Amino acid sequence: MTTACEYKPGLEGIPAAQSSVSYIDGKKGILEYRGIPIEELAVKSTFLEVAYLLIWGKLPTKEELAAFETEIRYHRRIKYRIRDMMKCFPETGHPMDALQTSAAALGLFYSRRALDDQAYIRAAVVRLLAKIPTMVAAFHMMRRGNDPIQPNDNLDYSANFLYMLTERIPDPQEAEIFDRCLILHAEHTMNASTFSARVTASTLTDPYAVIASAVGTLAGPLHGGANEEVLEMLEEIGSVDNVRPYVEKCLKQNPKHKFMGFGHRVWKVKDPRAIMLQNWAEELFEKKGRDEYYDVAIKLEKVLVEEKGFGERGIYPNVDYYSGLVYRKLGIPNDLFTPIFGISRVAGWLAHWKEQLEVNRIYRPTQIYTGDHALSYIPMEERV
Ligand code: ACO
Repeated sequence: MTTACEYKPGLEGIPAAQSSVSYIDGKKGILEYRGIPIEELAVKSTFLEVAYLLIWGKLPTKEELAAFETEIRYHRRIKYRIRDMMKCFPETGHPMDALQTSAAALGLFYSRRALDDQAYIRAAVVRLLAKIPTMVAAFHMMRRGNDPIQPNDNLDYSANFLYMLTERIPDPQEAEIFDRCLILHAEHTMNASTFSARVTASTLTDPYAVIASAVGTLAGPLHGGANEEVLEMLEEIGSVDNVRPYVEKCLKQNPKHKFMGFGHRVWKVKDPRAIMLQNWAEELFEKKGRDEYYDVAIKLEKVLVEEKGFGERGIYPNVDYYSGLVYRKLGIPNDLFTPIFGISRVAGWLAHWKEQLEVNRIYRPTQIYTGDHALSYIPMEERV
């Protein structure tokens, strides 16, 4: 079979689906969910309202949103068997691995694969949005030797998650900023984890397998895992004075050194989400004191973008650069940054799952074979 199109590593520029879920113009700094600019959604909406918008394609009415929130509140608890399973996870394991395993385990209880039944689809959407935050918080508590904290029915989605992490009712402004962070991370066109979700969905497997495969993809340091690594990098730099020496050392060792939280396949300007996250970090600093690594982050951005020519090459801070500084100010440990990204991105993955089912054809791309042909089998004793 001959291939009609040129091979592009990383499928750069190759459309993998037709989608109306979100849109990016990476040169103009535009990100829209279902046509609505992210800047507007981030300040006027709530995460669950945005999840509804992404999944069902329209903003919910007051009644539709109230019904959706009530269903999610009702399904927040997780089965004791899932909790017991999670208790057996090693406490040193990464929370993303715990999340991937737990998300897949939901399939043991709820998988029916009634993919043409809208009631089944809604129930799966509700369960996943409701239970994933509970599972992230439960693993965090259990790895510290504590019992998981039960969801608090009086709290909304984001406040409840922060509560389950600390057993403290969060400050409303902090819960609101956290909710806005979830909105920013909820969807981002055909990124690696969304592609994974769509490929998995295209086999008509169950939605829990779809989300588990997407979580595994998000975990990598080139994708969602970068937010944790940004903080490690800032900690390693340690002080504003050490920014230039650190950059020089990294580039001397490897001129192509990858600085975490910079660069993007699509964004060729500063990611609008990084701009918003930076503003919210400053909002939190006014109230709770400046983070010791914020000035390091600002200086590193300046040195790379302006002095080292990253800006001219279209390499700017991406969404992962400032998010960790916001989460740190909310008292969240570094290794929960990526699971929190996952909590939010479940909305986008589910929107793509649903869209994929509507037009499904199994993903089965081709390859360009570079190996040999018709070789003879070599007996063991003749091999070198
Ligand atoms: N630091 C230094 N140089 C970079 C960086 C970076 N962070 N990102 C890209 N570049 C350079 C590359 O070295 C390459 O240079 P070259 O053309 O001279 O070879 C060029 O820019 C293109 O980079 P690629 O890695 O080929 O770009 P690609 O689109 O394949 O990768 C990616 C995008 C993975 C995000 C990349 O920019 C990267 O590794 N960034 C660091 C990790 C990171 O922050 N990931 C989070 C992304 S956001 C998200 O997924 C949620």
